[in-house]
Amino acid sequence: MASRLVRIGVLGAGPIAQAAHLDAIRKAHNAELYALCDAAADLLERVAAIHQPTMCFTSFDELLADPLVDAVVIATADAFHVPLAQRALAAGKHVLIEKPLGMTIEECDALHHWLGDRRLVVQIGHNRRFDPGFTAAQHFVRHELGAVLAMKAWYHDSAFRYVMTDNLQPPIITSDHRIQPSLAPKGDRPRYLLRTHGSHLIDTARFLAGDIVRVQAQRRISGGSHCWFIAVTFAEGAPGHLELIVPVQGDFEEGFQIFGEHGSVTGRLPLVWHHRSSHVECFRAADRTYQRVLGEDSHTWRRQIEGFAATINGSAAQHGATLGDGIATLRVLIAVAESAARGGCAVDPAEMSGGLERIAESD
Ligand SMILES: NC(=O)c1ccc[n+]([C@@H]2O[C@H](COP(=O)([O-])OP(=O)(O)OC[C@H]3O[C@@H](n4cnc5c(N)ncnc54)[C@H](O)[C@@H]3O)[C@@H](O)[C@H]2O)c1
Repeated sequence: MASRLVRIGVLGAGPIAQAAHLDAIRKAHNAELYALCDAAADLLERVAAIHQPTMCFTSFDELLADPLVDAVVIATADAFHVPLAQRALAAGKHVLIEKPLGMTIEECDALHHWLGDRRLVVQIGHNRRFDPGFTAAQHFVRHELGAVLAMKAWYHDSAFRYVMTDNLQPPIITSDHRIQPSLAPKGDRPRYLLRTHGSHLIDTARFLAGDIVRVQAQRRISGGSHCWFIAVTFAEGAPGHLELIVPVQGDFEEGFQIFGEHGSVTGRLPLVWHHRSSHVECFRAADRTYQRVLGEDSHTWRRQIEGFAATINGSAAQHGATLGDGIATLRVLIAVAESAARGGCAVDPAEMSGGLERIAESD
């Protein structure tokens, strides 16, 4: 397997497939865009004309029945992720599931339990992990920082972001025939914002500083902006402060600071669609020097596919988020919602059940 390209089928020809996955797979050195599937035949035809997969399907079952498909990227609405991933895994395909993993802890735990020790790769699409700056920061934290004293991370989506993304992404093709959940994801705004943007913030915190075992969150809605300020405790005892604001009247900002026994790390990620590395500086107290990676190759989507394919063909250990990471992130998001709904009291993510339905419509 290591000597040949991993043949990938993409399920969903919607915006994220068009803006990220199809281009990423075509550019990946160890993967091939073998198939594309979308129930909307008009969308499928127009997107396939650009990206030229070998095979096109309007039926997911037909894609799964093709023995040449090694792996599937699930690029559909969140509510469909877990059931579609399970169908792909049952057909013996490896899966990369767009983030967030799913809607409820029960469906995600059931998938985990069902997967058991089946030897299939499951990766969650937390693409920031494939930013060279994030990788360098994690390496420094693990090998040089010593005990973590404290961590901050923030994700401020900009009110002006869509002007930037429209400039950076290809024109997105749409269809009236695409399949959507009965409750349109973006119509359910506070839950959508926490799930879609919060999952990046929480995965960043976990990737760099480890498991989160305690959450206290405050939420405020003002002038159309949603804000969550979150106090967390990491498993090793370090306190953290995480903030999610969507949107801010200012620039897009995603970043982190970590303070430790032997140094500190600061990182700022530009809007990810620029494909520019985060600006990460690692300070080592022993020789009073800062290190910064150039990170000239920062197409996180392509690197994510290459990491997925390398895990499948056995040439590298899994660097991307695992099924366990996806579940842990969802647990923290639900703990954030639970704590905010209960006036900021301390909540243990391990004790959560259900989904984000506990978010009130207003403060
Ligand atoms: N990683 C990131 O930064 C990032 C950014 C944007 C979106 N996303 C995630 O990507 C996912 C998809 O987003 P989107 O905006 O492209 O979604 P979308 O719902 O607009 O498009 C999904 C497409 O999948 C098709 N589809 C759904 N179920 C199908 C089925 N059973 N059979 C055949 N076709 C099916 C639909 O017809 C639709 O065209 C979401 O989970 C979202 O959170 C991630």
